[in-house]
Amino acid sequence: MLWAQPPASEAPPPPPPAAGAPPQRRIPEPKNLQVLKVQPQELIGVMRNWSASLGVQCNYCHVQGNFASDDKPTKLLARKMYTMVTDVNTHYAEAKVNIGCYTCHRGKTEPEVNPPAPPAGEGQRPAAAPPPPPPPPQ
Ligand code: HEC
Ligand code: HEC
Repeated sequence: MLWAQPPASEAPPPPPPAAGAPPQRRIPEPKNLQVLKVQPQELIGVMRNWSASLGVQCNYCHVQGNFASDDKPTKLLARKMYTMVTDVNTHYAEAKVNIGCYTCHRGKTEPEVNPPAPPAGEGQRPAAAPPPPPPPPQ
């Protein structure tokens, strides 16, 4: 059976960590995840994505030194935002791209709702035609 996977016992062992690779930083087990369904080692990547999407530092949502705390209103709102994003992506599962925080926020805490105003002059009616010349003298 050419298409069969080799039995697990024949699978090669995972490669040893590359020489000089930085040691994996230990991430403390999260204590207060209510909406994110991620492995602890994936959490920081999500958090960096959120920070960059809003153009903020971690302490925009987190109390310094206590990531599990829910004391900052921005953290509570971020949870709701995440739920909204997941709902949209689930509801429009056939869409080619998923939306994320950056889709709206574009590096700002307050997303822009309207497109920028067109440059001055553009989109206006052309200047009124000049009045017709006076009729030639009779
Ligand atoms: C836009 C707001 C926001 C930003 C910015 C943010 N976080 Fe978070 N973070 C959250 C929310 C919301 C949760 C809880 C998610 C949940 O309930 O599933 C969380 C959870 C965590 C947790 C788990 C805490 C626990 O014990 O439950 C850690 C650790 C964490 N964030 C680290 C970071 C780091 C590090 C940064 C900066 C790189 C960062 N966060 C930036 C909103 C944010
Ligand atoms: C569909 C567009 C949209 C998406 C996607 C979105 N947001 Fe928002 N977000 C908004 C709007 C609109 C506001 C309100 C801004 C205001 O009025 O201050 C906002 C506000 C916020 C605020 C509060 C900002 C403040 O200073 O009060 C946080 C925090 C936030 N969003 C986090 C997130 C995170 C985290 C994600 C991704 C999980 C996300 N948002 C995805 C539209 C979006």
